[in-house]
Amino acid sequence: LDDPAADPFEVARVAAEDIARLTGVEQHDIALTLGSGWGKAAELIGETTASFPATEVTGFSAPALAGHAGTIRSILTPKGRRVLVIGARTHFYEGHGVRRVVHSVRTAAATGVKTMVLTNGAGGVKAGWKAGQPVLISDHINLTAASPLEGATFIDLTDLYSARLREVARSVDPTLDEGVYCQFRGPHYETPAEVRMARAIGGDIVGMSTALEAIAARQAGMEILGFSLITNLAAGIQTTPLSHQEVIDAGREAEPVISSLLARVIEAL
Ligand code: 6GU
Repeated sequence: LDDPAADPFEVARVAAEDIARLTGVEQHDIALTLGSGWGKAAELIGETTASFPATEVTGFSAPALAGHAGTIRSILTPKGRRVLVIGARTHFYEGHGVRRVVHSVRTAAATGVKTMVLTNGAGGVKAGWKAGQPVLISDHINLTAASPLEGATFIDLTDLYSARLREVARSVDPTLDEGVYCQFRGPHYETPAEVRMARAIGGDIVGMSTALEAIAARQAGMEILGFSLITNLAAGIQTTPLSHQEVIDAGREAEPVISSLLARVIEAL
């Protein structure tokens, strides 16, 4: 993927063959990327039929960060659907390029997945939100100045985060609020002024992932559902300093509740 001459879609096809071999499953129906706080969902969705380090799959890099387990699993749900759970994420701030960031999404598409569920831990901007709350992503603002698309690939991003799938999620939990996700490059958190800017331009959630992945998922023709766990309020909204440890701890605390929600949503899809 680091070779500019390589075709990232061909690398994804090879990765999908690795996954078929490692899981014994030819086609997955749903893919789920697990962000901070969402990890326990894997155990609640169904029976894990295969589990292996992401690094065994072509094009996947080693995990960069504590709190981001690099495991891929194949899960069989009670309804008989095959879910590819991706517990490994390459962030744009790691500096390996957008191709690596979206490789898991392209690989999911190459395994036959039609529904891509993206989850993350993020900062809350919208008034009234509390740390520990899960929210639906209704749309995004990509502030990375990057794109997974190369060359003259003009794709439409209307209804990127499927209104239909958000309705399904709300049929499971009618109290779910939704908001616009702003992807910043990171890895520093925003300044209070940047958070005010995010709010002024229509942002409700600030984070460092997901938007680039959603664009790649749309390019691949998948339907997208996005969830953020509000691990903390964004800088200037919360008065205490932000820390990665706080994000991890908030994720751990919310994990049982939001993971069970996610498992029920997956079953309802
Ligand atoms: Cl406040 N900002 C960003 N960009 N990512 C986060 C966050 C804030 N809190 C958790 N992840």
